[in-house]
Amino acid sequence: MILVTGATGNIGTPLLSQLHRHGARPLRGLTRDAGRAATAFPAGVEAVAADLARTDSLKPALDGVRALFLVSRLGDDAAILAAAREAGVEHVVLVSSVTVETHPHLPAAVDNATTERLLKDSGMAWTILRPTQFTSNTLWWAPAIRAHQPVRVPYADIGLPAVHPSDIASVARLALTEPGHQGQTYALTGPARITPREQAAAIGAALGRDVPLAEISRAEAHTGMAAFLGAEQADAVLDLMGGDVNDALRAVRDTVPRLTGAPALPFHRWATEHADAFRP
Ligand SMILES: NC(=O)c1ccc[n+]([C@@H]2O[C@H](COP(=O)([O-])OP(=O)(O)OC[C@H]3O[C@@H](n4cnc5c(N)ncnc54)[C@H](OP(=O)(O)O)[C@@H]3O)[C@@H](O)[C@H]2O)c1
Repeated sequence: MILVTGATGNIGTPLLSQLHRHGARPLRGLTRDAGRAATAFPAGVEAVAADLARTDSLKPALDGVRALFLVSRLGDDAAILAAAREAGVEHVVLVSSVTVETHPHLPAAVDNATTERLLKDSGMAWTILRPTQFTSNTLWWAPAIRAHQPVRVPYADIGLPAVHPSDIASVARLALTEPGHQGQTYALTGPARITPREQAAAIGAALGRDVPLAEISRAEAHTGMAAFLGAEQADAVLDLMGGDVNDALRAVRDTVPRLTGAPALPFHRWATEHADAFRP
């Protein structure tokens, strides 16, 4: 049994589809809302309702599971890993972050590094995925674009190699189902650096109209983000968007094509697939 956490999310959705399409069985998807799973998951995928923040709810979800796809930081990762080990899970594919390598001082990277270490010390086999920023982060812009307002972003001309969540899913599927990936740590990026200005243009091309962009200061962006994320997390996100980027964060990695045999998916592909999210 393979259990996919974050199963309704950016990675989990394509991962369950890919696993199902490639014949991986049995499959279970974890969501806090099993009612929603009935329509979200491919036919034949078992839905289980559990909350990763409540480890006591995980026992039924982990029953019979041998391979676990774990999205980090949705609950107490130490407790989740202990529950997985107790349930007899043999292999965990963990979504961590490239910031463990590029920005190890940031709070989220410290958390992810701790989880990686716990997993390595757990006695279970492991594969660690360290993606860079996701193409799907531009969904933050959807309300403005739907309202025909300019996208307001700082660092509009700083390019980073945003990764399509389907490519993360492709690597996760291989790690969950094929030999040779245990004990590996994979940094995952898209095929090329792309700036926010170019991302807005690509979304505009997918919509068939101009998507205007207004560059704002870090201070203005911080005010808006801190309301949702808190001041410290907003600072970290702004550093990663452009305030403190380094060569390691800017580097295009060959991991996706090397492992999947296909080129990493470009931003315009994600924009075309998700154009409806930006339509009124
Ligand atoms: N975004 C980036 O740029 C970036 C970069 C590097 C690493 N990462 C890492 O990537 C991961 C996020 O992956 P993603 O984008 O696929 O996730 P996501 O789409 O943001 O969310 C995944 C799913 O998690 C579920 N969830 C949330 N809280 C939960 C809880 N308490 N218990 C159980 N399920 C819960 C939600 O499903 P339900 O509502 O159905 O329960 C949600 O659909 C995180 O570990 C993040 O640190 C992200």
